[in-house]
Amino acid sequence: MRVLDSEFAKGFCRMCVDGFYQGWHERNGGNLSYRIKDEEIASVKEELKEDGEWKEIGTSVPALAGEYFMVTGSGKYFRNVEIDPAANICIIKVDDKGENYQIQWGLVNGGRPTSELPSHLMNLEVCKKRNPEIRVVYHCHPANTIALTFVLPLDGDVFTREIWEMATECPVVFPDGIGVVPWMVPGGREIAVATSEIMKKQDVAIWAHHGMFACGTDFDITFGLMHTVEKAAEVLVKVMSMTDRKRQTIEPDMFRALNGPFGIKVNENCLYEKKSDKIGEK
Ligand code: 13P
Ligand code: ZN
Repeated sequence: MRVLDSEFAKGFCRMCVDGFYQGWHERNGGNLSYRIKDEEIASVKEELKEDGEWKEIGTSVPALAGEYFMVTGSGKYFRNVEIDPAANICIIKVDDKGENYQIQWGLVNGGRPTSELPSHLMNLEVCKKRNPEIRVVYHCHPANTIALTFVLPLDGDVFTREIWEMATECPVVFPDGIGVVPWMVPGGREIAVATSEIMKKQDVAIWAHHGMFACGTDFDITFGLMHTVEKAAEVLVKVMSMTDRKRQTIEPDMFRALNGPFGIKVNENCLYEKKSDKIGEK
C-alpha cells in the first residue's frame, strides 16, 4: 500500500487541516507526531527507503528504539499538509539506541523533522510507559490558552482549576489536569525534559507564552482534548474580560460528584479551598 492511502496517514493529514482551520497554526506554528503501529508500518513497507542518513535526535529515547513515527517537517506550514503531504511530513525510524533517526519517507523537497522532535519523542516515550495505547502528541499555538499564560500564575493546579470551572466536561476529559512549563527556549532537550515530566502523569502541558502540547490514543481523542482545553480557555478569557470575580461557579464537591457517574478520579490537588474569590488566586 502507498503511505498516503493508509488510514493513519489520512488521519494525520486531516488533523493538520482541522488544526489549521481552528487558527492554531499560523505560519509554521505547531507540529504533530504519531507512533506508527507494527501492522501499519508493515503495510507501507514498499514505499520506505532505508538508505537515508542517520541524524541525531538531540536526546535519547531508548524505550522507542526501532519504532517508526509520522511527523511534520520543521518550518513546514500545516496549511500545506493537505495540499502536498509528501513535501511537508515524513516517516522516520529511530535507531536501536534511541538516539538517531532516519527519514524513510516524505519531505521530498528536502527538510528535517520538526524542531520539537526531542519534545515529541520524549513525550511519546513517557506516555508509552504509562499507557502503550498513547500514540499521538500534538503541539499548537491556540490564542486563548496562550493569553491566559500572561494573567494566571504559571501553576498547573491553578490553571487546571480555573479551566475546569469553565466547562463541566473538562474534568471528565482531562481528570488528571494540566501542567505548565514556564517560558523556555523551544526546540531543545531542556524543554523536552520539562514537558515529558508533566506527561508522565498528565495529558496536557501548556508552554507559557508559546502554546500547548496534548497526547492521546488516536487523532480524534488528541484533537478533541486540545479543542476542549482551548474552548474552556476561551470562556475564561471572556469571563475575565467582564470581571475578576465569579458570581457562581462549579465548586470542589460538585467536581467530586462527577467521579462516580463518569468513572474518573479528578485530581484532588486542583480542588484546593480558595482563600480569595479573585480568578487565579489560590
Ligand atoms: P517547527 O516548524 O520546527 O515544527 O516549529 C514550529 C513550532 O511551533 C516550534 O515550537
Ligand atoms: Zn510552537
